[in-house]
Amino acid sequence: MPRPATEAIRITGLNKWYGTYHALKNINLSVNSGERIVVCGPSGSGKSTMIRCINRLEEHQSGQIIVDGVELTGEMKKIDEVRREVGMVFQHFNLFPHLTILENCVLAPMRVRKLSRAKAEEIAMHFLTRVRIPDQARKYPGQLSGGQQQRVAIARALCMKPKIMLFDEPTSALDPEMVKEVLDTMVTLAEEGMTMICVTHEMGFARQVADRVIFMDRGEIVEVNAPDRFFGNPAHERTKLFLDQILH
Ligand SMILES: Nc1ncnc2c1ncn2[C@@H]1O[C@H](COP(=O)(O)OP(=O)(O)OP(=O)(O)O)[C@@H](O)[C@H]1O
Ligand SMILES: [Mg+2]
Repeated sequence: MPRPATEAIRITGLNKWYGTYHALKNINLSVNSGERIVVCGPSGSGKSTMIRCINRLEEHQSGQIIVDGVELTGEMKKIDEVRREVGMVFQHFNLFPHLTILENCVLAPMRVRKLSRAKAEEIAMHFLTRVRIPDQARKYPGQLSGGQQQRVAIARALCMKPKIMLFDEPTSALDPEMVKEVLDTMVTLAEEGMTMICVTHEMGFARQVADRVIFMDRGEIVEVNAPDRFFGNPAHERTKLFLDQILH
């Protein structure tokens, strides 16, 4: 018997302004535990802003964001609570350049989760092995390829044992030959049941793993659909135009 779905994220009536610019307009989205969501849309449509609101890297002005049962308000305690459960991977890996790969991975688990160094290193090596670069642990980020650095960034996030992973165009800064190794890591993660929201224009990935694909334009969610429908028979003209542009 499948277990009843539990809600990982619920966003209702979300609005966000940068000064006078209305960047997110009445966003509503609910993500179940274990669900995989791909977000796409033109540059400037608000994709990054939306996922950055989910771990409060950006502050919203109205509406509600509830992550794993905790509502994000200005309260630092709640923000910390949410960030402990939400891992984030950015386009530009954001590794600490002066720390080794291993140090990058043990930092947050030791500081935030209060793990011993031995335990944190054990977990770090486990995830570095999972992303297939345990042999790079003693090197510095600058000594690794872009694809390897991005896999470190994924391993580093996983070391915190997050319930939810957010990806913001994790492959768009990579040379083409490194895209696959990073996507493979993400596919594995998806297959293991991680709740994921991925901003990406890798439509092969979307078809393979997404439960739902979201199209954003000008600060709005224009369309949400299962990949078959989304690619085969998009409901909105703006989605069609966008897909035409990126697929041809
Ligand atoms: N810190 C900021 N201050 C002011 N405006 C911002 C800021 N960050 C983003 N914006 C504006 O908000 C809008 C949405 O930006 P966002 O980065 O969310 O878009 P995006 O969909 O992620 O685009 P891209 O595909 O280029 O990454 C854009 O018009 C952008 O210029
Ligand atoms: Mg962006």
